[in-house]
Amino acid sequence: MQYYPQIDQHRAAVSRILRDGGTPLFLGDRSILENRYHELQASMQRHWGRSIVGYSFKTNYLAAESGVFQALGAWAEVVSGREYELAKRLGYPGSQIILNGPHKPDSLLHTASRDGALINVNDQNELERLIGIARVEDLTPRVGLRVSSNLPRLGHSRFGFSLENGEAITALRTLADAPALQLQGLHTHAYGDTDDPEIYRVAADRMGRFAQQHIPGYEQKIRFVDVGGGYPAHSPKPKSRTEWAPREIDAYVATVADALRSYFDSSDKGPCLVMEPGRYLTCDGILLATQVLHTLERDGRQVINCDGSISMIPLTHYCPQIIKAYSPTIEPKTKDEVPTTIYGSTCRENDLLYQGDFPRVARGDYLLHFAAGAYNSSLSPDFIFASPRMELF
Ligand SMILES: Cc1ncc(COP(=O)(O)O)c(C=O)c1O
Repeated sequence: MQYYPQIDQHRAAVSRILRDGGTPLFLGDRSILENRYHELQASMQRHWGRSIVGYSFKTNYLAAESGVFQALGAWAEVVSGREYELAKRLGYPGSQIILNGPHKPDSLLHTASRDGALINVNDQNELERLIGIARVEDLTPRVGLRVSSNLPRLGHSRFGFSLENGEAITALRTLADAPALQLQGLHTHAYGDTDDPEIYRVAADRMGRFAQQHIPGYEQKIRFVDVGGGYPAHSPKPKSRTEWAPREIDAYVATVADALRSYFDSSDKGPCLVMEPGRYLTCDGILLATQVLHTLERDGRQVINCDGSISMIPLTHYCPQIIKAYSPTIEPKTKDEVPTTIYGSTCRENDLLYQGDFPRVARGDYLLHFAAGAYNSSLSPDFIFASPRMELF
């Protein structure tokens, strides 16, 4: 629990927010969110030097809107026109937006080119459309190439230009005939919760070797080496994993930097190291607060019905919940544990949030669902109830 908000230290603030704001409500601990950013940024500076954290908006739009990472200097990593508009509305200049994703309509490519965003091109079709747009509109887009290969345990991502079958080399040939496009970056991204730093080493090494072998003058040309996101936070072991050994962020940064140094200069003359984490930045610091509506006894179990729902915390399917009980005055309730089932308040029979031993609770008590910051809120529909807001404390 040491990675999550220490409720006893924030009892007054949490109590006030829940009294005024009601439940269900996401609560974000500003100091934890800021700490994750600082840890990552300091590690990147230590192991590489010039570096940029691009906050992956889709991981939590409420966190993007709170401005907490933006205020610290994070760029915006976006993957759709809607996310791009959000970044612009929040005041990001185009030069601090990284546009990723497999679906970039012409209008979005046009806007991002005009704004000077860094466009990480995903595939040949997108590249050719971008060249056409640049020609017609007389634009000089800044581009990166997303590349991928067959990685240990993860396999070959469906995104990006394959380094293995000639796709990436074809992209370079296409770019060579399109001088309007400025190739400034290389990009790769591993699956979420990739816990083995050696997988990042392989990905970074292949990207560097590709640059060295196929991009003439790559030391001057490539200004951004972007190793994506996927770095684990401190959530429990995903249900699909038999082994789970997440390291501290420094281990991932050190490994990536070590691999890249074989190809790139890590001094001020070399490229900027870019990381685009989502879960690492948001998971630990944000929890969902719900309230007990009523309890009953069924077949020797305490059955709790709360005002949350699986639709508000859909990653329950992905990894187990960490739920703690608190009194209405936010005192922890830890005694008298009994076999318990916790249900949410939608009409679905299977709105099941937790099964296991749990302290006895009563109507009005709070349930705090920890490690809830990554993907839950952004995957939460307005199903029956509105998707919860977030307050920072
Ligand atoms: C290109 C890209 N960058 C960054 C991220 C953020 O990943 P995570 O939240 O696992 O750090 C994702 C997530 O899918 C992604 O696709």
